[in-house]
Amino acid sequence: MVTSIGAGARAGGPGRAWWLCAGLCLLALLLAPPAARAEDGYALWLRYAALPRAEAAQLRTQAAGLLAPADTPTQRAARDEVLRGVEGLAGQRPQLIQQPGRGGTLVLGTPASSPLVAALGLDLADLGEEGYLVRSVRHQGRALTVVAANTDLGVLYGAFHYLRLAQTGQALAALDLRQVPRLRLRVLNHWDNLDRYVERGYSGQSIWDWHKLPGWLDPRYTDYARANASIGINGTVLNNVNTSALALTPMYLEKAAALASVFRPYGIKVYLSARFSAPIEIGGLATADPLDPAVRQWWKDKATEIYRTIPDFGGFLVKANSEGQPGPQDYGRSHADGANMLAEALAAHGGVVMWRAFVYSHEEPDDRHKQAYNEFVPHDGRFAPNVLVQVKNGAIDFQPREPFHPLFGAMPRTPLMMEFQITKEYLGFATHLVYLGSLYEEVLRADTHARGPGSTVARVVDGTLEGHALTGMAGVANIGSDRNWSGSHFDQANWYAFGRLAWDPHASARAIAADWVRMTFGNDPALVEPVVGMMMGSHQAAVDYMTPLGLHHLMGRGHHYGPAPWVEGGPRADWTSVYYHRADARGIGFDRSAGGSNAVGQYAPPVAAQFGNLDTVPEEFLLWFHHVPWDHRMASGRSLWDELVARYDRGVDYVRGMRRTWATLEGRVDAERHQQVAAFLAIQEQEAQWWRDASIAYFQTFSRRPLPDGAAPPPHPLSHYQALQFPFAPGDGK
Ligand code: GCU
Repeated sequence: MVTSIGAGARAGGPGRAWWLCAGLCLLALLLAPPAARAEDGYALWLRYAALPRAEAAQLRTQAAGLLAPADTPTQRAARDEVLRGVEGLAGQRPQLIQQPGRGGTLVLGTPASSPLVAALGLDLADLGEEGYLVRSVRHQGRALTVVAANTDLGVLYGAFHYLRLAQTGQALAALDLRQVPRLRLRVLNHWDNLDRYVERGYSGQSIWDWHKLPGWLDPRYTDYARANASIGINGTVLNNVNTSALALTPMYLEKAAALASVFRPYGIKVYLSARFSAPIEIGGLATADPLDPAVRQWWKDKATEIYRTIPDFGGFLVKANSEGQPGPQDYGRSHADGANMLAEALAAHGGVVMWRAFVYSHEEPDDRHKQAYNEFVPHDGRFAPNVLVQVKNGAIDFQPREPFHPLFGAMPRTPLMMEFQITKEYLGFATHLVYLGSLYEEVLRADTHARGPGSTVARVVDGTLEGHALTGMAGVANIGSDRNWSGSHFDQANWYAFGRLAWDPHASARAIAADWVRMTFGNDPALVEPVVGMMMGSHQAAVDYMTPLGLHHLMGRGHHYGPAPWVEGGPRADWTSVYYHRADARGIGFDRSAGGSNAVGQYAPPVAAQFGNLDTVPEEFLLWFHHVPWDHRMASGRSLWDELVARYDRGVDYVRGMRRTWATLEGRVDAERHQQVAAFLAIQEQEAQWWRDASIAYFQTFSRRPLPDGAAPPPHPLSHYQALQFPFAPGDGK
């Protein structure tokens, strides 16, 4: 086409037909849905795509001029982000000015960095180190929008907030908002190995190109930092919790330091997973006993060395005495002994220890659900002040749905840090559309009743319940080397939602989803509403087609891909499916009531009473806490067996519904992303059906009941599903 236009021009200018055609093309372009250009997802929610005309004009007016300091790297990051964002959104780059002009002026700064901000006499006192305000003011007859904070980092966060308002089509004329993060540590946990393999990773290799570090700083590292800062994430643990001690050797510390230098302007601290036996493996000592003076000295020296290399190093994350990892119990010492030794080494430098409570032992015959509580509660109050105990959201392991972990509310004298999984190990890997904002919200809003009604998990984690200042939330990252970062476009939403909820664990998952959709796909209401709708029901759907009514841990052995409720035998009972579902001729479910393992006894009395009673337990946790007869009457009036089948079907139907909805959005989303999402939804439908069919075929061998009317029989015999093997499924531990 380009050639023919050129040829026409050379032949004496375009004729009438050409003008007609060009006019029609232009008209078609103007009428085309706004988001029609091809996109690969690299830009995440920071696309800054052109706003519709009226909103673009509003932004051009509000931010005609930009008055922002640029003396420090963080100041430059904020200024450059605003220039880039406004230019993309409004089609015009703000003028960099020194004095407010006649047009609207956007002012960034702290009282120290900006004389104008200082002159405005703003109430910044309670914004702390990371908070900010965004306010529309008139000053000497000029209209200003001020993004102000006590620190450069606060200003950067505020700048991102301002851009979010613009991106999501909010009115910008009369702004008055203040934000302070409710949690101190908002941290990604990368389960990345030094050979770039990512445990439970479904988005390519590790983004850390360890081999080329520190010499090559991939520009992707800067974009990673921008994306994280835009949602308030302020820390990253670079290496897997199942770590090699080599991560603490000088060669790797140099590499980590190079990454830290990229992240520093964006307020992101680097942390490392520490292998407890490192003093033996890289220190040449004979023991890693935490009470041995030589071991303690080794860690102190190591900490000093690390802080020499990375002055603002955040601290250590530790998986100890869990799933074969070394730990203090190898020497007859406690978790508190181990954590406190590392805490002592870091304390002088301001570092923290995030000591994981994900512990269980096969040698211990008690219900795995109870083990973390049993091991940790006796140590409440014995941890050093710079230790946080990092607790998974549920007691088993990031299952599609778990009741909140009984440790929340049970260790009042210890800061408990939430650990969520962002990568979807048990939720369909990268292909299934499952919005985890709803899962996170459900857990955070759960009421522990630890100090009476209203003692939500969010209040345990944000420190307000017990008065802790050291608070945090960790998310097991879903970020990899894939062009779209997370393996699928919709998995970006889970990274986004994690960050927003770590900033404010009381925020609404739906509102966060709406922001994400607007920034990621556009503000077209005909797109936003259906997509948010799809997302909000997607977690329940996955629970329904994988593990309805409180079932859990029924996936393929090792890789955790697909249904395998028949898994039994092998090295550990608590790595099998039959351990968890306990189906027999009488019924199904794990009796954790007072008459069973009594895991319910680890919750506060009102919760224990609710979960422990078959009449009051919420149906979503029925089989988590009870072994229930197949003919048990459910709220719907159906028998348990019929209800189970209905739930599986409901889950599959929901995915079909998402496919239909998404198909109607063709043309409203750029073709490249639309096609990939459509293809992934097709995979999800197939796999949801597979989960449903395989599970029903298997459980029917116990229930020996017919399928309810209208329910289709599984198309294959059980043996077909049992024979499926996936030796190369991604992300398996190794
Ligand atoms: C799960 C997961 C492992 C991981 C472990 C952990 O068990 O499957 O890959 O190492 O959690 O959180 O430590």
